Amino acid sequence: MNYTKKELLTKGGFQLINYLPSIGIEKVREEIIAGLKTIPKYIASKFFYDEKGSELFEKITQLNEYYPTRTEKKILSTIVSRLNVDFTNINIVDIGSGDPTKIRLLFSQLSEQVVSTIIYYPVDISQSAIEKAAEKLILEFPMLKIKGIVADFIFQLKLLPKTKNRLFCFFGSTVGNLSATEIEFFMNMLGNEMQQGDNFLLGIDMIKDVAVLENAYNDEQQITAQFNKNILKVVNNLSGTNFNPNEFEHLAFFNAEKNSIEMHLKALKNVAIIFDSSTDKVYLKKGETIHTENSHKFNFNKIKTIGLWAGLDIEKVFADDNRWFNVVHYKKNK
Ligand code: AVI
Repeated sequence: MNYTKKELLTKGGFQLINYLPSIGIEKVREEIIAGLKTIPKYIASKFFYDEKGSELFEKITQLNEYYPTRTEKKILSTIVSRLNVDFTNINIVDIGSGDPTKIRLLFSQLSEQVVSTIIYYPVDISQSAIEKAAEKLILEFPMLKIKGIVADFIFQLKLLPKTKNRLFCFFGSTVGNLSATEIEFFMNMLGNEMQQGDNFLLGIDMIKDVAVLENAYNDEQQITAQFNKNILKVVNNLSGTNFNPNEFEHLAFFNAEKNSIEMHLKALKNVAIIFDSSTDKVYLKKGETIHTENSHKFNFNKIKTIGLWAGLDIEKVFADDNRWFNVVHYKKNK
């Protein structure tokens, strides 16, 4: 049938719930200001993803230097028959879903008949990302039912659907962008949410040669630098600050103590930041940095620990030939 895309969204099984307003713009503003007043200064990495930021991130995933996306996709493209999971009538909750090209790899390994029994719940902070993804998925899998959830997955995990027989997915090693405390908190909450028999697929970037890691975040075309600086524009829009991204330099390096790639923005001169809603100011000295992202890298022990925080057992670990990236299948057995 020839539906327009819009009709497809309504005629296909697409619904959307937006839970974000309950957090409120004031809280977002407070969170940003508090980060800029902390020593050392930081901006939470979730603020990277406005429309421009999401576009830049998509470009990053296609860079030669940035191996995680293509490596994870290669693993996902053959995973279904190797997974001990029955996909009939399953409810797939895709946390931080954004890019639909990963989940489509799972659907494309299933029969149309099985896909028609699945309910797919993409959970993302960006409504437009969910809508765009749903549009693409429905074109390819018109029989799929999609119930999008706009939410901040760290704080709003409790709002996820309480159906039986769920497969949670958290791809892209986005878990590595959480702080150590946040990972523990998130896994605790997830463990409480999951019921006996539920499955969890977690995409995890592994510790490897430092040069490979650092190259992935310092690409020759400087797309990652643009992505990093764009966060200042997002912050300007959300909290009325007057950051000029050109006054900052992109820094990305591996912190071996924390097993994390850290991204920072370094002030190239003394800068005074004002907020629209107050007379408050924040000063940055030349050379001072704002921490914008942690991208933790993992080893097998950490994978086990993460599972324990949620009371989950490891069923199987899927890796590429270099063992650069893992997709871990955890199960809630009791
Ligand atoms: C989304 N996340 C897993 C990416 C990462 O690798 O930590 C974000 C990113 N930052 C710079 N490049 C990519």
